[in-house]
Amino acid sequence: MIILSIESSCDETSVAIVKEREVLSNIVATQIAEHRIYGGVVPEIASRRHTEAISAVCDEAIKTAGITYEDIDAIAVTFAPGLIGALLVGVNFAKGLALSLGVPLIPVHHLRSHIAANYIDHLDLKPPFLCLLVSGGNTVIAEVTDYTSFKIIGQTTDDAAGECFDKTARCMGLEYPGGVTLDKIATKSDFVKYPLPTPKTVGEYDFSFSGLKTAVINLVHNKSQKGEEIDVPVLSATVRERVCDILIKKTLKAAEDLGYKKIVLAGGVSANSELRSRMENECKENGLELYFPPLKYCGDNAAMVGVQGYYEYLSGNISDSSLNALATLDINYR
Ligand code: KG4
Repeated sequence: MIILSIESSCDETSVAIVKEREVLSNIVATQIAEHRIYGGVVPEIASRRHTEAISAVCDEAIKTAGITYEDIDAIAVTFAPGLIGALLVGVNFAKGLALSLGVPLIPVHHLRSHIAANYIDHLDLKPPFLCLLVSGGNTVIAEVTDYTSFKIIGQTTDDAAGECFDKTARCMGLEYPGGVTLDKIATKSDFVKYPLPTPKTVGEYDFSFSGLKTAVINLVHNKSQKGEEIDVPVLSATVRERVCDILIKKTLKAAEDLGYKKIVLAGGVSANSELRSRMENECKENGLELYFPPLKYCGDNAAMVGVQGYYEYLSGNISDSSLNALATLDINYR
């Protein structure tokens, strides 16, 4: 089955051609350079750029895969959650394409597709497993009981881990996207020295990152008011270590309590070098299997949408042309 998949939930316009778990093409047009001057994604600009890019990105995906539009069996599209104006571009393009080709339209939840990014290169991976899903807008520990069945056992009560990285990076003057830059700069420091709080949560597997984010912002402002310099690599390493401590500790505790032997990382923050390497070591020591996506599938891309779309199709999740985009939606929607 050949699926053409579309992703436009934030600042990447992406179209892919997938055959079950195999990626025939995956074209990503990123808007990062344009949003960089504002220090974050400007939703209105994102929607306009998706509109301008989507037809050409789609043609390129078809061409790169070496197929024609007549070869496509279904269209999959990210419909929720995300920036509403950005999502609408992909959803309406997908509806038009499905209608004109006379093929099924498959709605795909953005977070489900981040998890599915792992299925592309890890052909042995199948549910059930425990997933730490860390992105710019979400931090979740979920039991993935089947390809389209999820149980959230912990989540952030305020900011996502990616938000904490992005905003602390911005206050240190690091380039957008902050999480990526902070990860690179932190690697230049081999010790951590700034005192930062350890957040507390009521739920054992829940997260809280806003206090940590505020503590870093206050520290930077305080130093600057006193005319003192911040050691940016050292503070970056301190933030990275603290965030990773929290993510790793809670995930391993959940795996132990619930008896999971297989752990999967997903979402943009799963590209973090310390998170990947420390998780690898911890899992090895504890006899756990660890999976994470290759770097090219950690950020937003349509390949993961197509792969999840395949499993949604198998479970009968097909939409008609009344499909609408949604800014928020639970991962376990029905
Ligand atoms: O999953 P994603 O591409 O978009 C959302 O769906 O949110 O995640 C984007 C987030 C941003 O916060 C970005 O700074 C963060 O992932 N990120 C990283 C790294 N690469 C991307 N955070 C820490 N270290 C990285 N290497």
